[in-house]
Parts: sequence; C-alpha cells; structure tokens
Amino acid sequence: MTQAVASSVVVRVPGKINLQLSVGPKESDGYHGVVTVFQSISLYDDVTVTKEEIGAGLSLDINGDHIHGVPTDESNLAWRAAVLMCQKYELPADLRIEIKKSIPVAGGMAGGSADAAATILAIDALFSLGQTREELHGVAAQLGSDVPFMLSGGTAVGRGRGDQVTSALSRGTYHWVLALSTVGLSTPAVYTECDRLREGMKAVTPQVSDHLLQALLAADPVALGKSLINDLQPAACSLRPALRLILDVGGEYGALGSIVSGSGPTVAFLVSDEDQALDLAVALTSSGVVGSVMRVSGPVPGARVTDVH
Ligand code: C5P
Repeated sequence: MTQAVASSVVVRVPGKINLQLSVGPKESDGYHGVVTVFQSISLYDDVTVTKEEIGAGLSLDINGDHIHGVPTDESNLAWRAAVLMCQKYELPADLRIEIKKSIPVAGGMAGGSADAAATILAIDALFSLGQTREELHGVAAQLGSDVPFMLSGGTAVGRGRGDQVTSALSRGTYHWVLALSTVGLSTPAVYTECDRLREGMKAVTPQVSDHLLQALLAADPVALGKSLINDLQPAACSLRPALRLILDVGGEYGALGSIVSGSGPTVAFLVSDEDQALDLAVALTSSGVVGSVMRVSGPVPGARVTDVH
C-alpha cells in the first residue's frame, strides 16, 4: 500500500511560448501533426494539492485576476489530471486543488495544461509515488498535447501532436514583452481557421527549423528573432484582426521578432535586453491597442515542487 508522507504539496509551473509552431494537415484523429519549439517563460501558476478527509471527494478553487470563465468542475484539466492520477495509482480521490493563476487564460500560453502538469507532479509528491518523468509524461499526454512539455519545461522540440517532447540545447536568457488580450481564443477554432485558410494549398510536412535551433545554441537573440515562425498566426489574426495592429507596434519599436504565441491571442515580442523590454512595454501600453503588457524571460525550468507540509 502507498504510504502517505505529506498532507499538502505546492507546485510552481511556468507558462510557455512557441518559438516555432509548424502545422501539418489535419489527420484522421482530428489532430494536426506539428513540429514545435517550446520555451518556458517566467510567468507562473502555483498549484496546491491537499489531502482531504475520506469521502470529501475532489474540489477545485481558482484565484487570480482575469479568471472569468475558467471552470472549477470536472471539465477543468487540473481536475481531470487528478482523476487520472488517482485511477492509475489507486489513490483516494479526496483532494482539494487550489490554483493561483498568473498565466493568462486561453492566451496561447498553455495555462490549463500547466495546471494539469502541476497537479500530476503534486500528486506524485503528495503520495510519494516516485514515478519517473517518462511515466508522468505518459499520464500528461493523455490530458492534452501541451501537458508533457509543461512538466519538463526549459526549451524543447515537440512532435506528433506536440506531446512527444525532446529537450533542446539553448544558451543564454531571452527577454520578452507579452501583449495580453482580455478575451481568449479557442485552440480548436484557430486550427479550424488554419485549415480553412489553407484549403486548396499543397500540404507540407512540418520540419524543425535548423536556423532557430542554431540561434538558440549560439545565444543569438537577433538570429532567433528572425527565425520565429507560427503557422497558426494567420488564422489567429483572421479571427482577431486587432492582432495585426499589435504585431505592427512591435516592428515600429525595434523588437527583434514578434510572434503570436501558440493559438493566440497573446503576442510575444523578443527584445535585446530589459531596457528595451521596458521601452516596448511603455509603447504598447500607450498605443491603446493592447489589453495589458508583461515583461518576462526564458527559458526557465518546468514544473517543480516548491513546498511540502
Ligand atoms: O490536445 P489539446 O486538448 O490541447 O488540443 C485542443 C484542440 O486543439 C484539439 O481538440 C484539436 O482541435 C486542436 N489541436 C490540433 N492539433 C494539435 C493540437 C491540438 O488540431 N496538434
């Protein structure tokens, strides 16, 4: 029988941006084959999982700004992660999950996936399961395409649906300015719009960008800025035309690169240092086309236990 060693575990998990997101055609399972390069960034959710008395069942509480519309029932990915872990490892599903949210909701930064990854890791620690990363990645992949990367973090290449993750070498720290929107975009809707925009075009098999990997190896933000690529960007801009205006502001103020993050609508601007980040943040704020602005850096490590009691 599994021995309990703690009553509460806190896991801190970062959000991500996609430096590359190359999308193949839709496959028979409804998903698109992708090649993506992920980078974890310094914007975090904190997930606490606490044991409750027998029979209490699962509960979920979410705190933070702009959490409107985030479900607190079994449709939340963190809840589903808890159910899956409890089933797989035959654990009592009497747990309280508390999420302190800073990663934007439906922003293309995998906030929901981050919370699921954090829940997996918290339950592993809470019950001293001692599962390997591979084991936990297997559970993560059942929950969503981005969840395995949110466990490992750093810099990684994702293949398949994005769930087959191999870490990539990256040197240096990259500075980003994020332009956040108050209203999110639905990932399936953006993929569907991508298919619509590509109707009649020849399908291309996605490949990882050597230029991008070289830029990361060389710690070269200028080369990285030129290599950023997201096949979902035209679709996100088609559904949310204001994103084009936001992308333009970055160009005008000398960003090294500008990209919609994942399925959007967050726009990420790569800048050379913290001073330029501050200048661009001010320019974006005063442009009037942006909801709010954040300055972050990456890569940072993935989900990790920060407190046990
Ligand atoms: O895997 P996840 O649940 O995060 O995916 C959400 C939706 O995004 C899927 O239902 C699918 O419509 C779309 N998607 C896709 N191809 C991928 C990843 C996601 O079409 N590689």
